[in-house]
Amino acid sequence: MRRLDELFSAEPDRLSRLSHEVAGLYFDWSKTHLDQQLIQQFLKRSEQMGFAAARDALFSGAIVNPSEGRPATHIAERGSGAPEDIDLATARRQRMRALVDAIEAEAFGDITGVLHIGIGGSVLGPALLVDALGRRRSNIAVRFLSNIDGEAFDDAVKPLDAATTLVVVVSKTFTTAETLANMDAALGWLREQGIADAAGRLIAVTAAPEAALEAGIDESRILQFGEGVGGRYSLWSSVGVSAALALGWDAFEELLEGAAEMDRHFRFSEGAANLPLLAAFADRFYAEEAGCQTRGVFAYDERLRLLPFYLQQLEMESNGKSLRTDGKPVEHPTAPVTWGGTGTDAQHAVFQLLHQGTVTVPVEFIAVREADDSQDPEHHRLLLLNAFAQGAALMQGRSSDDPQRAYPGNRPSTTILLDRLDARTLGALIAFYEHRTFANAVLLGINPFDQFGVELGKAIARQLSEGADQDELDPSTRALIDRAGI
Ligand code: F6P
Repeated sequence: MRRLDELFSAEPDRLSRLSHEVAGLYFDWSKTHLDQQLIQQFLKRSEQMGFAAARDALFSGAIVNPSEGRPATHIAERGSGAPEDIDLATARRQRMRALVDAIEAEAFGDITGVLHIGIGGSVLGPALLVDALGRRRSNIAVRFLSNIDGEAFDDAVKPLDAATTLVVVVSKTFTTAETLANMDAALGWLREQGIADAAGRLIAVTAAPEAALEAGIDESRILQFGEGVGGRYSLWSSVGVSAALALGWDAFEELLEGAAEMDRHFRFSEGAANLPLLAAFADRFYAEEAGCQTRGVFAYDERLRLLPFYLQQLEMESNGKSLRTDGKPVEHPTAPVTWGGTGTDAQHAVFQLLHQGTVTVPVEFIAVREADDSQDPEHHRLLLLNAFAQGAALMQGRSSDDPQRAYPGNRPSTTILLDRLDARTLGALIAFYEHRTFANAVLLGINPFDQFGVELGKAIARQLSEGADQDELDPSTRALIDRAGI
């Protein structure tokens, strides 16, 4: 790979060409290896792969998830797509709003807590929103419960008062084993705590309302969202109801508006001026040409500490595939492993490998210019300076007579700097990642909207829990079951 410092010398306008601002977000790709030639090469590839047509298909509500015969209608939640999808999303949002208003008007009595049950896309987005934006502004404490592990249940309900808690059960399919088991446990907990009408405290959010009805949830407390809204793209829909309760309706609307601004940017910007596409060019370069198998995302802001977990599902469940949409093997490495953490903590734990390890990890720093904490502003200044220092150190490296103390440098990073963290900028940031994931999928020729890879493990667990014959299992798995005594 060419040296990054050489690229800066060779291209005097590099910073201005590779740093851009959209929707209150400043992006800097100048510390990546993208140069004019690479960008031209990837632009050509995006033409060959039909990027413009694929994007039109997404924004017109056409079927972009052919294996399941569906459009991807998360953008309809933000006002883009086929008019009938937008109308349906709007009507469903109005129902959600009516329920939020009713809860605020004490239709369920005084509510101080929400137990949000769901897993994967049915929890990661709402949890990110509440953790990022609800720290000082929430009247309602939301606890998130996803794992089947009973410890998770105990932890989640510990601070809640059953008498003033609503249970929001989110499952697109309403068949997910962990979610249904936790819903039953929550009903049991409410009853144990003396709540006479425990079922009356349940709100279901699903694309399969008939399954929720069958589970005994009254129609008036079922919020529906569309089949075309994938779990990992669903926080914009009624899946976000817990976040709307915690943050307030206006904040929820602002989140959608921020995402809509990024949608417009993605839809109408061409070539390398299209930032999710440009980001995908860098992603493709590092995965395909530099052989990077992982991508590190470090939030230099405690409020965004859940972002790496959210992105793991978005990127790895969307693009962790081996076949193209046409069924042929994909020609390139697909999604790298997304991992990460929070700065500055991560500097003292994993950054050693980033600076001197034998593998190159493209790093993404996400920081926020304005602080929202009660501490001396010096804290925030130091936080930001640390993020920027790490990017500089990764790129510059340092020579030394002592090889143990030398840094090779030339290690790439991207920085995203938000002016401030609010519902609008967070909506734009998440939509940026969604579109970047889509752009990667188009460049690879894969379908980012299905996830058949998650089914086999679920099926085996189900068979085993239903007492299937263990003789068909391998000796290692049989021995583990024996040893666990289950
Ligand atoms: O197992 C993976 C998955 O299907 C995700 O795609 C999804 O977000 C999660 O499980 C939860 O599914 P559901 O919302 O149907 O309960």
